[in-house]
Amino acid sequence: MLTTKYFFLLILIAASLIFVVLFHWFSSNDPEDRILVRYDTVNNDRFQQVRHWQTMTNSEALQADFDERLVVIYNRVPKTGSTSFVNLTYDLCRKNAFHVLHINITANMHVFSLPNQIRFVRNVTAWEAMKPAFYHGHLAYLDFSKMGVPAAKPLYINLVRKPLDRLVSYYYFLRYGDDYRPHLVRHRAGDTMTFDECVAKQKQDCDPNNMWLQIPFFCGHAAECWKPGSAWALQEAKRNLVNEYFLVGVTEEMTEFVELLEMALPRLFRGASDHFAKSNKSHLRKTKSKVEPLPETVAKIQQSLVWQMENELYQYALEQFHFAQMKLHAPGKNALPQDFFYEKIKPNQNVPVRN
Ligand SMILES: *[C@@H]1O[C@H](CO)[C@@H](O)[C@H](O)[C@H]1NC(C)=O
Ligand SMILES: *[C@@H]1O[C@H](CO)[C@@H](O)[C@H](O)[C@H]1NC(C)=O
Ligand SMILES: *[C@@H]1O[C@H](CO)[C@@H](O)[C@H](O)[C@H]1NC(C)=O
Ligand SMILES: *[C@@H]1O[C@H](CO)[C@@H](O)[C@H](O)[C@H]1NC(C)=O
Repeated sequence: MLTTKYFFLLILIAASLIFVVLFHWFSSNDPEDRILVRYDTVNNDRFQQVRHWQTMTNSEALQADFDERLVVIYNRVPKTGSTSFVNLTYDLCRKNAFHVLHINITANMHVFSLPNQIRFVRNVTAWEAMKPAFYHGHLAYLDFSKMGVPAAKPLYINLVRKPLDRLVSYYYFLRYGDDYRPHLVRHRAGDTMTFDECVAKQKQDCDPNNMWLQIPFFCGHAAECWKPGSAWALQEAKRNLVNEYFLVGVTEEMTEFVELLEMALPRLFRGASDHFAKSNKSHLRKTKSKVEPLPETVAKIQQSLVWQMENELYQYALEQFHFAQMKLHAPGKNALPQDFFYEKIKPNQNVPVRN
């Protein structure tokens, strides 16, 4: 008699124990809880935001999570007007609460060694405390999906510039510097030879092969990318431009580039257009003492295969960018808020499923 009583009591205690354990297990599997834990440990000043999230539904929290974990990589090509755009992101990062990081690459290399490729990819992906983040640096396109990192890939953006303009700008920049860091003595300071004279004398500094830079930056880390005149590299650059880049603008239309970014990624770029228009950043970092090349110099450069291929990539990027711009507007209308909606959703959400 007494033993049966104890037996039932034991069963009761065991059952309640199981119930408590199960309850904890299920509640800690709630996605909102997981988010709360992550942000608590990672960043205390996100606490306010997290409190707000608790009132959201799971799918709303997931949407917000996309923004909070956003990583944008701007693998800028030297002398494409990138400084003014990067300056803009530094101005915005405090107000919009994201991090900007410069990738300083040893010895100005554009290609990482294999151990560094995987180290970089893992570091960027795992570094939660920096997210949302904007990374910028003179790095050739690097494919994250090759590195076995299952997490979301970053969004690549870039700007391209007319190849001859870029070369001429770089040529004078090496000799006279710019108004951004006016006192820095550049490699070729003191050399007063003009670009025209250089081309006429067929010197190294104005060799059209020096224009082979935008193609390899878009092409990436393959050996073939860095062979001036490679048709494969041009094709690969084009493929990456449309398949792997979120947005590629042109230096000549930077205002439109900033506007489109603000519309597409407001989490980072909210207020960017206004700020860009107000500040005189678009005129920032003008190369000093730049002389426009003579028509015969231009004609000579345009005969080179490298110019023709670089120009093809530029025109390709321009067409793509204009297409993206055009799609912002419905025919005869102003900007569209959202140009899709869902309909014919079956089975009906409000009718409970009957067995
Ligand atoms: C942006 O450019 C302005 C000069 O126009 C400079 O005063 C400011 O320090 C720059 N900001 C950063 C973060 O480099
Ligand atoms: C990168 O780091 C080196 C070494 O600290 C420094 O000398 C160089 O100025 C940095 N590069 C840039 C672009 O800031
Ligand atoms: C990423 O690299 C930086 C600098 O080397 C380091 O401080 C940081 O802890 C790394 N982040 C992760 C998540 O490994
Ligand atoms: C911007 O440029 C205009 C002329 O181009 C000048 O009048 C104005 O003072 C500049 N503003 C700032 C904030 O530098």
